[in-house]
Amino acid sequence: MLGRLNHVAIAVPDLEAAIAQYRDVLGANVGIPQDEPDHGVTVVFIELPNTKIELLYPLGADSPINGFLEKNPSGSIHHLCYEVDDILASRDHLVEKGARILGNSEPKIGAHGKPVLFLHPKDFNGTLIELEQL
Ligand code: CO
Repeated sequence: MLGRLNHVAIAVPDLEAAIAQYRDVLGANVGIPQDEPDHGVTVVFIELPNTKIELLYPLGADSPINGFLEKNPSGSIHHLCYEVDDILASRDHLVEKGARILGNSEPKIGAHGKPVLFLHPKDFNGTLIELEQL
């Protein structure tokens, strides 16, 4: 079911500082910040040869990232995103196996304009997993 690792997301407390660090210290190819009001985040993608890093920064007072940054004030890995061919078939398979889908279990459009779902971190070794259909 699982395809490639699409990205690793890191929640950051200071987006400009994180962009400058990846660009100037690590020498990475850093994209332009995009606001994602449906998800309550501003995202920046960093292209690596084999995958991407997604910097996440809160957008608005209700952002789901706010609580995470309160618990992790210097920032931390927030989720892993795996690619799947068929997100609805993957969801149905996971539900049948007892995994919990966050939200109403219907895919949302994610930061790449593709359907995504998030899986409950307690079901996956404490790791929040995003599935994205390419
Ligand atoms: Co993501």
